[in-house]
Amino acid sequence: ERTTVAIIGAGPAGLLLARLLHRAGIGSVTLESRSRSYVEQRQRAGILEQGTIDVLRETGASDRMDKEGLPHHGVELLFRGERHRIDFPSLADGRQVMIYAQTEICKDLIALQLREGGPLSFETDVLAIEGVNTASPVVRYRKEGKEAELGCDYVAGCDGFWGVSRQVIPEQLRKVYERVYPFSWLGIMADVPPSSDDLIYARHERGFALLSMRSPTISRNYIQVENGTDAHSWTDEDIWDELEARTATKDGWKVKRGPITSKSVTPMRSFVHEPMQYGRLFLAGDAAHIVPPTGAKGLNLAVGDIIVLADALKHKFTTGSDDLLTTYGERCINRVWQAERFSYDMTNLLHTNPNASEFEHRIELARLERLVSCRSATSDLAQAYTGFPLHTGS
Ligand code: FAD
Ligand code: DHB
Repeated sequence: ERTTVAIIGAGPAGLLLARLLHRAGIGSVTLESRSRSYVEQRQRAGILEQGTIDVLRETGASDRMDKEGLPHHGVELLFRGERHRIDFPSLADGRQVMIYAQTEICKDLIALQLREGGPLSFETDVLAIEGVNTASPVVRYRKEGKEAELGCDYVAGCDGFWGVSRQVIPEQLRKVYERVYPFSWLGIMADVPPSSDDLIYARHERGFALLSMRSPTISRNYIQVENGTDAHSWTDEDIWDELEARTATKDGWKVKRGPITSKSVTPMRSFVHEPMQYGRLFLAGDAAHIVPPTGAKGLNLAVGDIIVLADALKHKFTTGSDDLLTTYGERCINRVWQAERFSYDMTNLLHTNPNASEFEHRIELARLERLVSCRSATSDLAQAYTGFPLHTGS
């Protein structure tokens, strides 16, 4: 078995790469360890930046997104009992974002790939990647209990934070930058219309809260909890009480309650692995970097890497030149660090760090005050939230 690009992982990164390569006439095989239904139901990101919306449209994967996605023109920051709206189009050159869940993007891309594209194999565990320093790397995998090999020209490591690709790069060349935060998010899905048209990010002395949504009838909300919290140790009523307390405003507006259909806890981490490439192996998305979710950069960052990588592979196959492939990581990394910086700032700005002093809490409140009252500061947030530019090289 042989292909041009072996893609490890069918999360948003791997699936989008397979789609872009198919559109460019470049062959690929995608190997995914989980089942199709697991990938389609894994509840994660919800906000798409303008650049992510654009690439899904360009690749013909946007029919349902354009029908069901919810365009958002701003967000609100809530602190000291007051809501402050930040308008994106007027501050960020007309850009906006869209609520369309990662689960839905995965469903759309999987359906297209199975119908039109190269092979996509679920329940297939990649065990090892060999020869990435030769012209013909080999991917070893196990499917239905049997081991097999896939030969290729290039390997795309799109296998997320827990994947195997990153481990192929020799230890002495690897550098890891990391921060683990002293809190987690408890996320819920609830059968109740969103409490507000805009997303609300709240800082409260009891901790962070976020009111988001998945559709006009489904809310997606989060609260900051202690690390190690068991999601089921919180009753539904406790969660709504806490959301209500943390988002209370002086004008009496309140979060809307409804039946909770799922609860889960996500730890928060910042992580960057360098380099993002080694020989014929290219890392993209969570395989190379993780951001804490505040600010919704994870999925969008993965999409950005893939646009740069697909562009470099297309350049190679149309011109024969390796130039864009050899500079892939360099062209991604600045945007990665900008997203890391933004996610870190948003996390510190909105969470109450149990180790911080009263002084540090007041500094974060002063930062928020500045953010909503100084146009250049608001504008910087709007631009970062709607997305950092890409360096595709063409
Ligand atoms: P992934 O989606 O992780 O995909 C990697 C794929 O590789 C997986 O399907 C995995 O099964 C597969 N794989 C792993 N190892 C192997 C192997 N050996 N062989 C074959 N396949 C393999 N971002 C936001 O913006 N907002 C959020 O609210 C948000 N919430 C999140 C909650 C959680 C619990 C997590 C983990 C992430 C969250 N993120 C969020 C981040 C966002 O979901 C990720 O940045 C995004 O999924 C990255 O896509 P990816 O394709 O790089 O990686
Ligand atoms: C969602 C997640 C985020 O991390 C965020 O900043 C905004 C929205 C969400 O899941 O809807």
